Amino acid sequence: MLNAEVDARTTRRALVEAGIAITSELSLDAVLQKLVRIAAELTDARYSALGVIDRSGLELERFVTHGLDDATRARIGDLPRGKGILGVLIADARPMRLDDLMTDPRAVGFPPNHPPMNSFLGVPVMTRGVAFGNLYLAEKQPSGPFSEEDEELVILLASQAAVAIENAGSVQRDALRRAVQAQEAERRRLARELHDETGQALTSMLLGLAAVERAETADDARAAAGELRELVVLTLQNVRRLAVELRPSALDDFGLEPALRRLGQTVKESGALDVQVETRLGSERLLPEVETAVYRIVQEALTNVVKHASAERVSIVVTRMPEKLIVIVEDDGSGFDPDAGPGEGLGLLGMRERVQLLDGSLTIDASLGSGTMLALELPLS
Ligand SMILES: Nc1ncnc2c1ncn2[C@@H]1O[C@H](COP(=O)(O)OP(=O)(O)OP(=O)(O)O)[C@@H](O)[C@H]1O
Ligand SMILES: [Mg+2]
Repeated sequence: MLNAEVDARTTRRALVEAGIAITSELSLDAVLQKLVRIAAELTDARYSALGVIDRSGLELERFVTHGLDDATRARIGDLPRGKGILGVLIADARPMRLDDLMTDPRAVGFPPNHPPMNSFLGVPVMTRGVAFGNLYLAEKQPSGPFSEEDEELVILLASQAAVAIENAGSVQRDALRRAVQAQEAERRRLARELHDETGQALTSMLLGLAAVERAETADDARAAAGELRELVVLTLQNVRRLAVELRPSALDDFGLEPALRRLGQTVKESGALDVQVETRLGSERLLPEVETAVYRIVQEALTNVVKHASAERVSIVVTRMPEKLIVIVEDDGSGFDPDAGPGEGLGLLGMRERVQLLDGSLTIDASLGSGTMLALELPLS
């Protein structure tokens, strides 16, 4: 095969890889890291980097590099401040090719330990004509200036980086908005329950008290007081349950394991199904946000099993690994079609938001008639 043909094919593959990366579920830094590596490989550059300027336009918000080992990166010291050439690329958002970066009068601010960089290609990362970062390459191998074709490829990759950066911003905003919505829905439900059940009960108690007051004999009064006592006991249970739903104190006081066991017990009693809880968590507490997320997700998963699954058994297994926490909730119920799209329910949505906010992943394996398995992974570092 001709060399040119091989090149064209490699280029195409790399561009496809870049395209897939930006639509994947990788974190933004991982996507940018990939784009930077691909840019270097396609242009035979020894070094490549991508910097994103923050809103103030003064500081670098992100900076990913390729080709610099950790030691060199550490020796260089502080991140570039976007003065020198990087600043020029932001202010004057046009691609730039230089034969020798080091001797360019605009290349100010090179730290003393920076490896020499001669041939240079930089392109702005921009959307709608506004630059907010740049992608640049240095030291074309074996040696020599970057070509026009290099420039075109890097412009393409920079535009993909811009899309990835924009997406990450809007995904975050979306996640936040939906998390708030789910919280609101939950509060509305609790408010309704407080109003309907607890309010009703207190009204009945008032009536009961009036009956005690009106009682003509001591026996009548005692009977009315007895009824009242039952009502108070029931209401107390109800209020306790609501309080636990709002914030299970077992979670704060004793940690995830007892809280999950208690939750399992409650579901077992109220849902008439066999609930098994198995935890391998070790002795150290997890971060509070991880504990809360796992508790809420398992709580919603169990609520769903009770509400929708007609299951006989459900098992919850929580395993702590060195780097991540794995939670599996599995029932033997009706299953469902996860591709049927989101209905009115906020439960699964809320789970996904919680997982996303912690950079974890959630997989639901369900098909009609064969139970549901929910697998959750949360990073621990
Ligand atoms: N374990 C399960 N077994 C069978 N079906 C399930 C299970 N979990 C979820 N589903 C199905 O997925 C749908 C979406 O669940 P989701 O928790 O998002 O909403 P919901 O439970 O209907 O409402 P909400 O959680 O807001 O009260 C449910 O309506 C149900 O059809
Ligand atoms: Mg639900």
